[in-house]
Amino acid sequence: MGSGHAGPLSGPPPGAPLIAIDGPAGAGKSTVSRAVAEALGLDRLDTGAMYRAVAWEALARGIAPDDARAVAELAAGATIEVGQAVVINGQDVTSQIRTPEVSRAVSVVAANPAVRRALVKRQRAWAARRRGGVVEGRDIGSVVFPGATVKVFLTASPEERARRRGGDEPADGVARRDRLDSTRSASPLTKAPDAHVLDTTGRSVEDVVKEVLSWL
Ligand code: CDP
Repeated sequence: MGSGHAGPLSGPPPGAPLIAIDGPAGAGKSTVSRAVAEALGLDRLDTGAMYRAVAWEALARGIAPDDARAVAELAAGATIEVGQAVVINGQDVTSQIRTPEVSRAVSVVAANPAVRRALVKRQRAWAARRRGGVVEGRDIGSVVFPGATVKVFLTASPEERARRRGGDEPADGVARRDRLDSTRSASPLTKAPDAHVLDTTGRSVEDVVKEVLSWL
């Protein structure tokens, strides 16, 4: 079964709102998904943190990010918790997954179809255990939860996205990641046909959250 298969876990259980928030780097996904989750009293899942954790673990073990078989094996066998802290195989890597080394490696790791299958399975299991949630990533509305209650595709101008990154990742690094994420063959970053497009450029968080909530 490919990760694109819309099985019974690909939508919310009855009565449980599942909000999918996708978009490129710096579009505001983390801030918006956190605020929407808080407003609705729901848990939030940052799927990017899962891909980053796998990339970190590969680097820590001296595995090349493009060693598809070794990285897939690692992803399938790892225990990963993504909540307040990000923990992989018992090690807290919350801050380490934001380093430039991990940012450089993550898109190659995320282009690996077997890694995606392993992580999508966990993402669907996460939602199945809850009465709703807010899930952010690149393929949430298109592949992971095509049956989501509301799908949001966040965008922002390139200048705004670079500014939000605040220099923690060079602009050409962000552009490279966006290019790799959008052009890979396995679940590329794409807007689901039924997603609401929301340009967050120059808009306040409150304003953006209000608009998302109006779609529920
Ligand atoms: O830092 P930023 O918010 O832009 O990205 P992130 O959400 O932390 O995701 C890091 C990387 O993980 C992305 O550049 C993608 O390569 C990958 N990713 C993915 O492929 N699919 C997802 N659902 C989430 C992230």
